[in-house]
Amino acid sequence: MSAQQDMADKVTVRTLRLMKERGEKIASMTAYDAAFAHALDRVGIDFILVGDSLGMVVQGQATTIPVTVDHIVYHTQMVARGTRRAMIMADMPFMSYSSPADCLRNAARLMKEGGAEIVKLEWGELEIDMVARLTECGVPVCAHLGLTPQAIHKFGGYRVQGREAKAAQKMKDDARALEEAGADVLLLECVPIDLAADITAAAGVPVIGIGAGPHVDGQILVLYDVLDIFPGKRTRFSKNYMEQEGSIHGALETYVNEVRGGTFPSDEYAFR
Ligand code: KIV
Repeated sequence: MSAQQDMADKVTVRTLRLMKERGEKIASMTAYDAAFAHALDRVGIDFILVGDSLGMVVQGQATTIPVTVDHIVYHTQMVARGTRRAMIMADMPFMSYSSPADCLRNAARLMKEGGAEIVKLEWGELEIDMVARLTECGVPVCAHLGLTPQAIHKFGGYRVQGREAKAAQKMKDDARALEEAGADVLLLECVPIDLAADITAAAGVPVIGIGAGPHVDGQILVLYDVLDIFPGKRTRFSKNYMEQEGSIHGALETYVNEVRGGTFPSDEYAFR
């Protein structure tokens, strides 16, 4: 197969934007190795996130903070080997983008060494500049807002974000500023349904939710929660598809179908 044919159905940020325009829901999930990446690619997942959640679900750490750029590069390489169609997103770990030089160098490593096609940064006051710098360099960027687990010690726990009017307005302003700076995708974690719906309606770029209700452009979940193989406590917004389907293929396929059909997430997996 030629490189041109191979790219023909490859998902890119342009594909996701077209899906938003057509009102087609985007289905995504985390993965950390080639076998699961292949399983997700087979069921038509649109993008795979090599998330720093690997610190918790793969390495057994208490938080995502110990994850390094080397870890993400290593797991992204494996995911890239197992993936043909899905877009590959890689997380920038804690403190790997706190200066423009670190941000550009580490994003380059994720793309050049890992094979990532878009990088994800968690929101902080510095992020707008970083998104702008990456955009100038032609690096696609996803900006993660709401509950940003790298700031867990600042938040003092895993809580829904944006419930108070001031915080909700700030999240809307931040989302707009990030899009203006060049973000290609926004990701909202643990955000009330109505706030996520408002941000999605105002955004020109796709908005992906995790614990952000059904009125966003797409959904993402952590693979090990979906398969119920994470030994820790599963978050309220995650659904155990293994219990429902009994096989890995069935669980992943049903997740994609439910996201596309708009039946996941129902109210029990969302916050008011
Ligand atoms: O690291 C991760 O898995 C994530 C998801 C929770 C979106 O950032």
